[in-house]
Formats: sequence, structure tokens, C-alpha cells
Amino acid sequence: MLAELKQRRAIRQFKTREVERDKIETLLEAATYAPNDRMREPWHFYVIQGDSLKRYEQVALDYLQKRFPTKPHLVESSMKAITHTPLIIVVTSAIVDGDSGATKDNTFAVSSAIMSMWLMAEQLGLGMVWRTRGVGLVHDTALHTFIGASDAEQLVGTLCIGYPAEEIESTKKRTPFTEKTTWL
Ligand SMILES: Cc1cc2nc3c(=O)[nH]c(=O)nc-3n(C[C@H](O)[C@H](O)[C@H](O)COP(=O)(O)O)c2cc1C
Repeated sequence: MLAELKQRRAIRQFKTREVERDKIETLLEAATYAPNDRMREPWHFYVIQGDSLKRYEQVALDYLQKRFPTKPHLVESSMKAITHTPLIIVVTSAIVDGDSGATKDNTFAVSSAIMSMWLMAEQLGLGMVWRTRGVGLVHDTALHTFIGASDAEQLVGTLCIGYPAEEIESTKKRTPFTEKTTWL
């Protein structure tokens, strides 16, 4: 298991090849086995491919052009993050009205679900990156509106998925746990 965890990578370049339906369903099934407080199963998945991906691209382009009106090169380079992605899954977490603790726990559970999807993706020969910033649009209302999420949902991750088209570095930099651990 440690070897698999060390091998997992954020993959940002994908082949144009479509991701098969059964693989997408395996990813979604893997997510649903994540630990979650009081079995609220607080996740919802929005699968975006084909025509809906083209519409997503337009939403992202509008957002970036509005945000960076004087930086067309930045807009163009940012858009590359999704224009070469065959599959996007947006994952939301349920907001528990009047209970910020439970709402936070839901976000933790959804984060666990996303990690399960990431590991599952690698096992299926797929690459994935969890995006929040830029075209990830997690911190803006545009994507929330586009997918038709309710007010009782918050976006946690925009998962860009596909067959990897990049070389994977052999070494992965991490601070040793000894520097991040206090033994009490
Ligand atoms: C909550 C979260 C948000 C992230 N947002 C972005 C993002 O917006 N854009 C991006 O390129 N990568 C994003 N990443 C991926 C990280 O950059 C990546 O995991 C990190 O560089 C470590 O690399 P590794 O995943 O290959 O170990 C995000 C990861 C997490 C967990």
C-alpha cells in the first residue's frame, strides 16, 4: 500500500482517448466506500464529458476573461488545463443547515472519497488531478450554477481525468514525517 501511495501523482496532461463508461462507474463506486460521519454519505458527483465539457469550457473561459481582462495569455494558458481533458467529475459535499461541525465533517468525508477515486484511477491506468483554483472553479459560483448544484451543496473538487500523456518523475519530494510529527 505504501508503494501505491508513493506512486500516486497529480496528472495534468491527457491523451484525447475517451474514458470508458465502466471505468468511470468504477471510480464512482470506489468513492462511495469512503468513511463518512453518521453515514450521511454527503457526496454528489457531476460527470462532465463530450458536449457538456464544451459548455464547461465556455463557463471557464467567461470566468477567466472576466477575472483577468488584461491578461489574454494567462487566460489562454489556463484554459489548456481543461481543453485537453476528456473527463471532468465535479464533486460536491452536503451542507448541514445550522451545523458547521457536521458540514466540515462532510467535507472531510468527500475529501476521503476523492482520494479513493485518485488511487482507483491509477489502478485503472488513468491519471487524475484534483483542481480547485483557476479553471477548477471550486471557489466561484459559475461552476456551481453550471452543474445545477443546490444551495445545500458546496463544491469540493473538480477532478480532471484521462489517460496520462506525461512522463512521471521517479522521485516525489516530501518532507519526512519526522519533521511533521510530535510524539506526546
Ligand atoms: C485540495 C487540493 C486542491 C488542488 N488544486 C489544484 C489546482 O487547482 N491546480 C492544480 O494544478 N493542482 C491542484 N492540486 C494538485 C496538487 O498541486 C498536487 O497534489 C501537489 O502538487 C502534489 O503533487 P502529487 O499529487 O503528484 O503528489 C490540488 C490538490 C488538492 C489536494
